[in-house]
Amino acid sequence: MLFGTFTAFFMPDGAEISRGGGVVARYRNYLPVTNATPIVSLGEGETPLLKAPRLSSRVRCHVFLKCEGLNPTGSFKDRGMTVAVSKAIEHGAKALICASTGNTSASAAAYAARAGIRCVVVLPAGKIASGKLIQAIAHGADIVAIDGNFDDALRVVRELGREGEFTIVNSINPDRIAGQKTAAFEIVDELGDAPDVHILPLGNAGNLTAYWAGYREYEKVSKSRRRPRMIGIQAAGAAPIFFQRVVEKPETVASAIRIGNPASWEFAQRAIDESRGAVHIVSDEEILAAQRWLAQNEGVFVEPASAAPIAGLMKLVAEREDTSLPKNAVIVCTLTGHGLKDPEIIARDFQKSAPVSADAKAVRAAIINAQ
Ligand code: F0G
Repeated sequence: MLFGTFTAFFMPDGAEISRGGGVVARYRNYLPVTNATPIVSLGEGETPLLKAPRLSSRVRCHVFLKCEGLNPTGSFKDRGMTVAVSKAIEHGAKALICASTGNTSASAAAYAARAGIRCVVVLPAGKIASGKLIQAIAHGADIVAIDGNFDDALRVVRELGREGEFTIVNSINPDRIAGQKTAAFEIVDELGDAPDVHILPLGNAGNLTAYWAGYREYEKVSKSRRRPRMIGIQAAGAAPIFFQRVVEKPETVASAIRIGNPASWEFAQRAIDESRGAVHIVSDEEILAAQRWLAQNEGVFVEPASAAPIAGLMKLVAEREDTSLPKNAVIVCTLTGHGLKDPEIIARDFQKSAPVSADAKAVRAAIINAQ
């Protein structure tokens, strides 16, 4: 097995490269690792906290985008996976298992490959965005597609995990939550304090739980003076927390958050209540419009689930139904996954035209036509 146990690399001229060391190297004291833990890392974390000037002026607040799609496998899952897989190896795991709407399985497959351990992913058949499925295949995971949704897959995985043959790396594993809280640390380290408001998509509700744990922990050790209001955004067709009831057949174009019975429901609800936050819903049309708007006005391409907080922010400001967004508030939106994960969503609206002849005149005519 091969482990990245170095926290820094040294160039021949003595210059130190500290970036890309991974979240355990950066936040070791806040994480459940010891010297006996072999760290499995792909250099996750340290993602850009990008200022969003056009979005800021549209909503009259200071909006920052935490671009988690720039993690090694293209989603925020890598932060938790480095901790969960490292701990699994420390405890002598023989194989990993997870249920997934796609990103967890892509991340688990990559970190398992890095560690040299078997990985089984249980997926709702036909419901995984192509980029994510390709990642699981490429990294050599054993893929089992089930005739059911994500909630069914997680139920099966919980059962198999009890038998001791597999280590579960879903966010019901507390090591995942521990790793994911490092995103909140990075935000506070960069802004100098917590933002006023943090908005993120809600699926299985692990990420909101993790951010809240991170903000609380940093406040406790006086790294920040305040905590943000946590606002979770669900897709209208998959909104169990908003409606306060399990959704038997969740449906949304944002396949990553097509979840009807979130595993971390209670924790997330507590975080939302404690932070005086809220849960809101957005329609599929609003999600897709926000995805396009962000790509074309800020140059940031995210998958549909990651556009949900942008859609939610736009809606809240348009409707002014939430007083938790005062003018000039500092708002962080987590963009959870990269747009290339789900190319079909964009491709289906793209009209392919016949090729024109290879001369400037014909191309100029085509350009005029395209306007
Ligand atoms: N955004 C993306 C891109 C996701 O992949 C997920 C969850 C979420 C948001 C929601 O985060 O579950 O912590 O509330 N994806 C999981 C998966 C369920 O299997 O990849 P959450």
